[in-house]
Amino acid sequence: MIYLDNAATSFPKPAAVCDAMTAFALEIGANPGRSGHRLSVDAGRVIYETREAIASLFNMPDPLRVLFASNATGGLNQALLGFLRPGDRVVTSGMEHNSVMRPLRALESDGVRVCVVPSSPEGVLDPDDLRRMLREKTDMVVVNHGSNVNGCMQMIRELGAIARRAGALFLVDAAQTAGCVDIEMERDNIDLLAFTGHKALFGPQGTGGLVAGERVPLERMRPLIYGGTGSRSEFETQPEFPPDRYESGTPNTIGIAGLGGGVRFILETGMAEIRRHEDELAAALVDGLGSIDGVRLYAAPPERRLSTVSFTSEALSPSELGLCLDEEFDILCRVGLHCSPAAHASLGSFPEGTIRFSAGYFTTSDEISAAIDAVRALVRKGDRA
Ligand code: ALA
Repeated sequence: MIYLDNAATSFPKPAAVCDAMTAFALEIGANPGRSGHRLSVDAGRVIYETREAIASLFNMPDPLRVLFASNATGGLNQALLGFLRPGDRVVTSGMEHNSVMRPLRALESDGVRVCVVPSSPEGVLDPDDLRRMLREKTDMVVVNHGSNVNGCMQMIRELGAIARRAGALFLVDAAQTAGCVDIEMERDNIDLLAFTGHKALFGPQGTGGLVAGERVPLERMRPLIYGGTGSRSEFETQPEFPPDRYESGTPNTIGIAGLGGGVRFILETGMAEIRRHEDELAAALVDGLGSIDGVRLYAAPPERRLSTVSFTSEALSPSELGLCLDEEFDILCRVGLHCSPAAHASLGSFPEGTIRFSAGYFTTSDEISAAIDAVRALVRKGDRA
């Protein structure tokens, strides 16, 4: 089997992830921060260590500003619904996932103004276009760091500088980049960073969150969920300090334990090594698929691409091609609109969608060659049919 669906969720996971989850299940198991007994304290420590590992990965001095949620969608919703009020203005890009567009469209019906900066046909956002859009007072800029459709990365440092200069908070959707691209909160001018645990951070599904930079006025960010936190239990009102203010209810401790294992694996392996390998796979994918007659690539510019590539074929629809790859070649990928109709519209592949190959750190060059050969064979067969 060849797994090319890492943009949906990474597979396989490093052994350190499974080991950390097994150790939690067998040796700790308790509810963190609720009871004073030793296993509860150990569970709290597991969560704190993962917070620290994530803070270290993004060069964030205060681990308590790493706020856990169930996924990147949870982190994005926390930032968008937590900050934006009727009358506010938010600027976003034409390359967003529905995890940004749907909360924004819901906020729009409550009186938040939503403006979209179009991208180039390859998916690149021009900083000058953002600058022009920010001539009017803006409260927040939200940008997808790396597209889940064609792997196109934006120049977040430059975009963040423009957003901050205009007095807007800069929110980055790092669902596809956290773990496989070097990201630093302050260096990259990021105020709020939404991350998922189960993609390039190698954690299990059901993990993710939001990192809130030091200068973010958290007193203005309302929680989405209220309830028990194990702290200040004498009060019926929500604690005001992070992370407790945003983390009510028993957390996904076993998942967060696994996420800690994934982040430590990345810190030990080194981001440069992960990028080097994924860059090689991306180049092989683009070159190989691009050389097949009748295949149209929706590739990002070479200097700003992840190892995620979208394409279509004249001979077969994306769903036919995806089904044949699965059934005849044991190759697993994702077809359709990838929950990102806006990005597909920007790239010119809406409403039909594309077929997407997304490689990960554990993908080999041989697997990429085999997948390219399979597409070539299927397209040839489809042409003859
Ligand atoms: N957003 C994820 C994907 O692109 C699930 O497949």
